[in-house]
Amino acid sequence: MINKAKLGVLVSGRGSNLQSIIDNIEKGKLNAEIAIVISDVKDAYALERARKHNIGTCFVSPKDFKARSRFFDEIAKNLEDNNVEYVILAGFMRIIPLSLINAYKNKMLNIHPALLPSFPGLGVQKKALEYGVKYSGCTVHFVDKGCDTGPIVLQAVVPVLEDDTEETLSQRILKEEHRIYPEAIDLVINGKVKIVGRKVIRK
Ligand code: GRF
Repeated sequence: MINKAKLGVLVSGRGSNLQSIIDNIEKGKLNAEIAIVISDVKDAYALERARKHNIGTCFVSPKDFKARSRFFDEIAKNLEDNNVEYVILAGFMRIIPLSLINAYKNKMLNIHPALLPSFPGLGVQKKALEYGVKYSGCTVHFVDKGCDTGPIVLQAVVPVLEDDTEETLSQRILKEEHRIYPEAIDLVINGKVKIVGRKVIRK
């Protein structure tokens, strides 16, 4: 049995992507172990989801640290203490500092609810609707120093319908997020892809 990759999942909210990772691990589709779920929001529902599956959790309060760097030092310490090999951002609503990105170079993934490089940043389902695009989707990418700019592992496309609201489009995208995030994690932790320039190539 190959050792299971140890994941550290960073969350801030409802944690539906965390749930899909947990479910895929429990079904045996993803050979990984969630070593710790870390939240910057005390009552994030994601923490509740983790606890229900006996996964270790930790709340790091930004209010406890005067400097942003100290807050992230604490997160890094929690990741190290739990021997985390891969950091999975799953709705974590903060910009990751360079120090942490470098500590997990090519071992940190994010999921974004748009087809990057279109619509980086926040509130992107609404922006896609307002722009009038006919297709949107989601992107799993490595985290680099830019905002949603890292090499792309997987993307999924969904149609934008004329009567879509932010809510209906978000739901259609979310369904695809739950499918491709575990798939992308599998590719990365099992060394099935390599990064060449800014391209992610299947080996
Ligand atoms: C998702 O839409 C994800 O793409 C974005 O934040 C949202 C998190 O949702 N980065 P959840 O907490 O996983 O349900």
